[in-house]
This record gives sequence, structure tokens and C-alpha cells, in this order.
Amino acid sequence: AAIEKGGYEHFMLKEIFEQPQTIFDSFRGRLDVDQPLLTLSGLETIKDKLLAARRIIIVACGTSWHAGLLAEYLIEELCRVNVEVEYASEFRYRNPIIDENDVIIAVSQSGETADTLVALENAKKQGATIFGIVNVVGSSIARMADAGAYTHAGPEIGVASTKAFTAQLVVLELFALKLAEMKGTISTARLRELTAALHAVPEQVQWILDNQLENIKQVAAKYKDARDFLFLGRGYNFPIALEGALKLKEISYIHAEGYPAAEMKHGPIALVDENLPVVFVATQDPFYEKVVSNMQEIRARKGRLIAVVSEGDTVAEQLAEDVLTVPKSHEMISPLLAVIPLQLLSYYVGIELQLDVDKPRNLAKSVTVE
Ligand code: G6P
Repeated sequence: AAIEKGGYEHFMLKEIFEQPQTIFDSFRGRLDVDQPLLTLSGLETIKDKLLAARRIIIVACGTSWHAGLLAEYLIEELCRVNVEVEYASEFRYRNPIIDENDVIIAVSQSGETADTLVALENAKKQGATIFGIVNVVGSSIARMADAGAYTHAGPEIGVASTKAFTAQLVVLELFALKLAEMKGTISTARLRELTAALHAVPEQVQWILDNQLENIKQVAAKYKDARDFLFLGRGYNFPIALEGALKLKEISYIHAEGYPAAEMKHGPIALVDENLPVVFVATQDPFYEKVVSNMQEIRARKGRLIAVVSEGDTVAEQLAEDVLTVPKSHEMISPLLAVIPLQLLSYYVGIELQLDVDKPRNLAKSVTVE
């Protein structure tokens, strides 16, 4: 087992550290830096369906659902088509209205999640076209889909998903860019800007791993005894707040909630006191000023502010008690970076609490029964 872990203490840590490579693998051969033309062959297969689609429905569970939620923001912005994101377990039972004009993107690491698989089978019977974004080659969802793109993250052993999530995000980014290119809803300049930003990600993730580890370990040790955590973000960073909270729950058994930063006023703000750590995903993007004012609101109530910020930030950095830094990127790409310190934070809190981070209690890698 020690050999399988490649010198790392746990699969989760190994898989977090593999991300510079797995992120590269997920766009390799699909994205050309010099020429802003993408190849996503699966997408070409269903081109006519996609161009005609009135809407795209994304179906997933767990961490994969968070990747889908971010994709909703990206695809609507870049492709100007309606996107709905559905929990497979709800979607399959509520008799959704589906027909042959619908394209469904299924997001699944294992390709075996029972709820997702049955939701897709039902939708397929009603005429929908299924596009699978799956990690495990030859899995049930990969086989039943009409077309798809593998995430190429390699086997993920840790029960809590890390590298599969970032690979899903990359493929969903490529999907959005390619569809926008096909629909003519993106300028060449914007396409070039986004492809360049994607190309920079592996190195930028490596920078986080090389420069932030000690800092993140200290933050983990400092807050390990908290009873609750709140994770907040807006826009493209809202799904990352949800994912940060889910990771912490899974690995440390500390109760954590992810919320849209502004929506906290409608509930979670009642929990804020000097014992509550509040993690803001506050990287540079169009919502940054708004996020800063949300941070001020937490600070006024004496919450313990932790912020994920872009390198060179001075405002959020001053406000927060602890800061986790990521390199600057394009606002649509930076969620790929912002999630890395949150994965590491939950890992190190789990280690501090001496928990089984690779196999958290009650959780399964793949939920193949209802
Ligand atoms: C389980 C796993 C999660 C995963 C979810 C969906 O809950 O523990 O890590 O996100 O299932 O799995 P899938 O394989 O469909 O992505």
C-alpha cells in the first residue's frame, strides 16, 4: 500500500498533489495554445443536437454536482443557452419534462452512481441526448451516453473527490468554450484569453503546493476544534464555497455550510460569533468588492475570517485573520485554483483530528445503490 501511495501518507494527499499533472492531462490534445481551436470530439458527435437545444440539463450527485453548478455559470455566460443543474436523485423521481430537444450533461467520477444512471436512462427514453463527463473508462454511464469526454484524472482512491473534481471542471470549461465557438457567441480574443488562462493552471496549482502548505497546515491546526464552519463565495466562486464545505464535512466531521456570500444574511449570519470560522473565497473577480463588504459584515460580528485571496491582494488580506493565497487568473478559471487550498485545509484538519482521511466513516466512493 505504501508503494501505491507513491511516498505520500494518504491517497487523498497524493491525489491532491497529482493535480498539476491531471489538470494538464484533462486538456492535453484538446486545447492548443497557439491557435484558439479546441478539439472535443464527443461534442462534435452531437453538434446538431447541441446547436438546436433549447436548454442543457446537467445531472450529477455530490462533488460532481458542484462541478455542474459552476458549469451552469460558465455555459450560460459563454454560450447564451439556458442551463439547469439537477441532483440526480431528485430529477429521476419528479417526472421532469424532457423531450428530444434536450441535451443532458452527466457528470460522474465513477460512472456508476445509481441515481445518476437511472436519471439518465429515464431521460434517454424520453428522447434526450446524453453527454457523459466521466472519469472511469468503460463505466455504465460512459457506455450508455450518446457522446462524451473522459476526464483523464486516473484512478481516484480517496473517498472524498479531489483530482476528479478539477478534471471535471477543466472538461466543462472546454465544453463551454467549444460550444461557444460553435455557436459564435465568443470572440477570438476572449477565447484566446481563456485558453491561455487554462494553460497556466497546472503551473499555478504547483505554485500553491510549493508555497502554501505550511501556511495551510497552521490554519488547520488553529481551527481544528471549531464546531461549525461557514464557507462563502459569489458567482463562479459560490460552487467552490459549497465544495469547500463538503470536503471539510467529509474529512473532519466538522459541520460546515456553503452559502452564496450575500444570501448568508438570510440565515447563517445568525450563527456568527467569535467561535465561528468563516472561509471566504475572495479571489479577484467582478464580485470582489461585494465579497469584501460581506467580509466586513462578518468581521463586525467578530467571526473568525479566513480568506482565499489572489496573490497581491491587500484589501481582503487586511480584513482576514488568516489568508490562503492562490495565483491570479481569469475569473472563470480561478475556481480551479481556489479549490486547492480548501482541499488541503480539510485534509490537514482531518490529520490534526487523527481521522481516516482516505475512508471517512459512513461514506462510499461510489453510491451504487439508492
Ligand atoms: C459519492 C462520493 C463523492 C462523489 C459522489 C458522486 O458520494 O463519495 O466523492 O462526488 O458520490 O459520485 P460520482 O462517481 O457520480 O461522481
